[in-house]
Amino acid sequence: MTSSADFPERYGPWALVTGASDGIGRAIARELAARGLHLVLVARRREALEAVAQELGSGFGIQTRVVAADLSSPAERRRLELVVGGTPVGLVVAAAGFGTSGPFLEADPEAESGMLEVNCAAVLELCLHFAPRLQRRGGGGIILLSSLLAFQGVPGAAHYAATKAWVQTLAEGLRPEFRRHGIDLLCAAPGPVRSGFGARARMTLGFAAEADDVARDVVQALERRRFLVRPAMLSWLLEASLKPLPRFARTRILAKIMDGMTRRPPEAATVGPATRI
Ligand SMILES: NC(=O)c1ccc[n+]([C@@H]2O[C@H](COP(=O)([O-])OP(=O)(O)OC[C@H]3O[C@@H](n4cnc5c(N)ncnc54)[C@H](OP(=O)(O)O)[C@@H]3O)[C@@H](O)[C@H]2O)c1
Repeated sequence: MTSSADFPERYGPWALVTGASDGIGRAIARELAARGLHLVLVARRREALEAVAQELGSGFGIQTRVVAADLSSPAERRRLELVVGGTPVGLVVAAAGFGTSGPFLEADPEAESGMLEVNCAAVLELCLHFAPRLQRRGGGGIILLSSLLAFQGVPGAAHYAATKAWVQTLAEGLRPEFRRHGIDLLCAAPGPVRSGFGARARMTLGFAAEADDVARDVVQALERRRFLVRPAMLSWLLEASLKPLPRFARTRILAKIMDGMTRRPPEAATVGPATRI
């Protein structure tokens, strides 16, 4: 267990947090700032990142750097690596990500390949870039974001669930190797969380955990050197109810849940004469 006093020594002086402009990434950034880590904040929206930097810098007396980058672009990912090249990063949090939902036969190919780039390729490249650096400095940490949906196929969010299964499998495979080099790899698998995620994925999350509760549980789990965390009580409860079931039964249940979460109003109802501009 790492105490709060040891935290900056083990995971600092700097942490890099992707997806820091919103939701879970922003909340994790706050937890890290409260433990005295300086922060490189990464996402696309510069203004939102600067607001987070301003708040955490003045609130916790830490240094911040903002890198506005679209992680769906391989060139932007290279630029991020160059920009942070000289920064002594001891902890990487790969929280940038998004989901899509609805029938796969109606999917937008561009959105699906963008999701694969952000949820998988960017995560892989962050691990490839930073893990050897953490090994050379004698250790550190990496936090990846999986999902409750990662543990079975999910009709209505088939590709999103597959990207999170990819993250989960990668994390499980890397954990023992990283551990031998003092790198703590943690994989967080939340259930529904209130954040920007639902609107972007076009999912209605009826009940959802708070991003602050998720972030608190994730960072406390890192302090305890745990691997897989179901952050916030809701994630834990949902997992506990699905876990005893065989995979095909979980898929059937999640298909029904996704159907409710992704039901779109008929075209005519959403674009009536009054709403047409
Ligand atoms: N919310 C949930 O129910 C839930 C459940 C399980 C797992 N997760 C996972 O948790 C992670 C965080 O999600 P969240 O709930 O915090 O969602 P969120 O509030 O929508 O935040 C997503 C973050 O990712 C950034 N991002 C998205 N696309 C990006 C891109 N192309 N390049 C760079 N940054 C990008 C966004 O910033 P910009 O828009 O400024 O780029 C934002 O900071 C995701 O990996 C998600 O899959 C979420």
